[in-house]
Amino acid sequence: MNQALIVLTSNFCSLTRLLFALLTALAVGSQLEAAPRITLTVQADKPSHKISPLLYGVFFEDINYAADGGLYGELIQNRSFEFRGTDALFGWSLVRRGEAQALVSIETDRPINPNNPHYLRMQIGSIGSGLGVANSGFGGIPVLKGSNYLFSIYARAVDSYNAALSIRLETAKGELLASAQIVGLNPNWMKCASILKPTRTETNAHLVVMTAAPGTMDMDMISLFPEHTFKNRPNGMRADLAQLIANLKPSFVRFPGGCIVEGKDLANRYRWKDTIGDVSERKANWNCWQIAMSDAPAPQYYQSYGLGFFEYFQFCEDIGSEPLPILNCGMSCQLMDKQFVPLDQLDSYIQDALDLIEFANGPVDSLWGSQRAAMGHPEPFRLKMIGIGNEQWGGDYFARYEKFVVALKAKHPEIQIVASAGPSPDDQWFRMAWLRLRELNADLVDEHYYRPPEWFLDNVNRYDQYDRTGPKVFLGEYAAHTTARRNSLDAALAEAAFMTGIERNSDVVVMASYAPLFAKAGFTQRPIDLAWFDNTRLYGSPSYYVQQLFSLNRGDTVLPLELADSRPPQPASRRIVLNAHHTDAEFKDVLGIEESSEFTTRTPGLFATASQKDGKVIIKVVNPTSQATQATIRLSGMSRIGAKGEAIVLSGSAPSDENSFEKPTKIEPVTTPLSGIASEFRYKFKPCSVTVLRINAER
Ligand code: AHR
Repeated sequence: MNQALIVLTSNFCSLTRLLFALLTALAVGSQLEAAPRITLTVQADKPSHKISPLLYGVFFEDINYAADGGLYGELIQNRSFEFRGTDALFGWSLVRRGEAQALVSIETDRPINPNNPHYLRMQIGSIGSGLGVANSGFGGIPVLKGSNYLFSIYARAVDSYNAALSIRLETAKGELLASAQIVGLNPNWMKCASILKPTRTETNAHLVVMTAAPGTMDMDMISLFPEHTFKNRPNGMRADLAQLIANLKPSFVRFPGGCIVEGKDLANRYRWKDTIGDVSERKANWNCWQIAMSDAPAPQYYQSYGLGFFEYFQFCEDIGSEPLPILNCGMSCQLMDKQFVPLDQLDSYIQDALDLIEFANGPVDSLWGSQRAAMGHPEPFRLKMIGIGNEQWGGDYFARYEKFVVALKAKHPEIQIVASAGPSPDDQWFRMAWLRLRELNADLVDEHYYRPPEWFLDNVNRYDQYDRTGPKVFLGEYAAHTTARRNSLDAALAEAAFMTGIERNSDVVVMASYAPLFAKAGFTQRPIDLAWFDNTRLYGSPSYYVQQLFSLNRGDTVLPLELADSRPPQPASRRIVLNAHHTDAEFKDVLGIEESSEFTTRTPGLFATASQKDGKVIIKVVNPTSQATQATIRLSGMSRIGAKGEAIVLSGSAPSDENSFEKPTKIEPVTTPLSGIASEFRYKFKPCSVTVLRINAER
């Protein structure tokens, strides 16, 4: 009895508590429902400036194995034996079965052409039960059952060697997946090709070239491509990676870098002329991300240049983007070897820029236009802009930039030139760059910054006060770097908030592209990138989906938007952060300055921008907080407002949420119908979210 009473009493207490809690929650809820303290007013009848049609683009750099081993479809690593240093045979191994014996060496006597000076020689003593060489690609060769793989090789018989070559795709254990025969070698280099069709899918296949008799023979340019590439172009791109870029609908592609344009030293700089023509004639180069400022040094990182300027231009055309090639300005990376070409010896660099314009746009009977035509594109690529230097700064840069501008504008006034403002958004070099580039009447100034998320939230209004009369801003590289240096939701939300400021100021910020596009898992030098891939899979980071949301939901005109937040102000605190991208040492050693920023952090509210296009009002709202936020939305000046629209929402449950190979779309935008839209309506913005409201409205 006593026991029962205790249970009853305690149940009663719990019930009372529950009832009280429910009543309180209802009261709070109804209060919130009754009076949202945030109002978003869009002046839909007062369109402001036009949004630059080029606003959202991408930046592609061959970093993190983004080109060879990534976007470039080639499956063989070190196909032309041009890797230098300790291991010229990197990627290759000798296959010796039974009593087989051979000597394998890298030779240079009578190569296939002077640009491709090294090749592999096999001196075969005995073939035992199998002798050849194998390549394991970039961490394994992925093949699909029933798909075609295009194999090719340059081979040469020495001393009338006359045996067939057996080309095999094998598993790591040596099981056969596909095979073909190459016959008829002769004493001259000969390109032979065949098709391999694997009998099963394998992620870690090896390509094996087997010999059939003792003797000596040479091989070079051993290549294997999936037949299916993006748009099925020969020498093409890995289709899924290229499609991921295309799905952003970028209005421009900035390529090929980045620091690789500058090079560690001048000899290492990117030379576009080495990247065109037949692939066997392209001069390979080592990639400065082998060693440079790297989270994970990659001593065998090379550029085959199979993905070269022709392929970049063609890709831009394929996806409807404007090409923006960046050229070396006569300076190697100022954070690396800092070599400068003397001003009176800059002519060949300037000529390279002039020749590039001719290669892209010149008539088919011009020197460089004819090379484009010979590569299969007689029509011009309609190049409209070019970048001179990547991330340069200081007087040495302006002196060189000026010389380029004089020569380029004299011959091609129609080409817009992008100038650099260095690697920081606010240091002394940055300020000097803007002063000087204004004096020089630059077309576009390329700003780069990698900062903590709080910096981005604090600087959403950065461009509100920019001078509208001078050069335009090209925000060529930016990304929020969290302390954990992860592509997490909090970083993406900070970028999204910042992008509302970019869009609002798109009369002065006319182009913007995120930090590097791609990172290959396990091959990554810089861990903040838009999308991640391995040999068979890929996923976009939350930042990727933010870029896509903004790009696919562009208006053509900005609408004034007022955000009134009557909640009690949040306390502010001062924070100092060191540069989040380059290390302290890089800045102190090279620039001689402490690269740090001071800024105020407060609990942010909402960030928003509005635009219109084709009878639609498009409102983008970012809620970086962990609380859902009710707001009243007012559409002023619109007489016909459709009651139905749509809401596209990217959100997550925690700021640290990320996408991954296992959960590639954990964070991605979801579209739902929106009803009850009127000149004033309420909307609850999810915690940690970016929301695009698309509303049909006319005056
Ligand atoms: O993370 C990419 C590098 O960052 C780019 O190569 C360079 O422009 C910037 O410093």
